[in-house]
Amino acid sequence: MIQTERLLLRAWRDTDREPFAALNADPRVMRYFPSVLSRQESDDGVDRILRAFDERGWGFFAAELRETGAFIGFIGLWIPAFDAHFTPCVEIGWRLAAEYWNRGLATEGARAAARYGFDTLGLREIVAFTAEQNLPSRRVMEKIGMTHDPKDDFDHPGVAEGHWLRRHVLYRLAANARE
Ligand SMILES: CC(C)(COP(=O)(O)OP(=O)(O)OC[C@H]1O[C@@H](n2cnc3c(N)ncnc32)[C@H](O)[C@@H]1OP(=O)(O)O)[C@@H](O)C(=O)NCCC(=O)NCCS
Repeated sequence: MIQTERLLLRAWRDTDREPFAALNADPRVMRYFPSVLSRQESDDGVDRILRAFDERGWGFFAAELRETGAFIGFIGLWIPAFDAHFTPCVEIGWRLAAEYWNRGLATEGARAAARYGFDTLGLREIVAFTAEQNLPSRRVMEKIGMTHDPKDDFDHPGVAEGHWLRRHVLYRLAANARE
């Protein structure tokens, strides 16, 4: 469990499944993904996250707003399953319900998750990637001190060829380059 000024990054609970499915069904949240998710797809995502916690003790943490106790999405670390020029790696990622955007919450949680990756897990580097058009997510990457070299950009193998979201940007954060 990781606590920040406004957030609790914690283990998932069964009661998170419903608000998680709601945000995964929101076209605003899924704008830079190939599609919104059904309840089943959302629950399958939770199951994958739970398996990661069982196997390694970490993953995408459930993000809770401390003030209200509301589940607002996830922020955390993940091992991508696809092959690319930068894998194997640990990525940092985030997805929040739209009503909580633009308050600095993703940035606040991501800073804490990166610290956990470096200080607790002993990682040497954390990466992040997103569709090149996803400016809010890229902004979070920049705000936590990640750097972008266009030479690292790649076509996501999970996105169909010719799809407008296939091109992805890669950002990196090294343990010894933290702000
Ligand atoms: C990406 C996401 C988690 C950011 O969460 P957040 O809590 O709003 O992030 P923050 O408030 O910390 O920072 C957002 C930044 O993006 C900026 N931003 C918002 N909309 C923007 C836009 N259309 N164009 C450019 N910048 C934008 C904000 O101004 C802010 O930057 P600033 O602090 O310099 O003003 C949230 O937008 C989200 O859940 N998106 C949908 C899921 C997603 O795409 N996840 C990432 C997949 S890799």
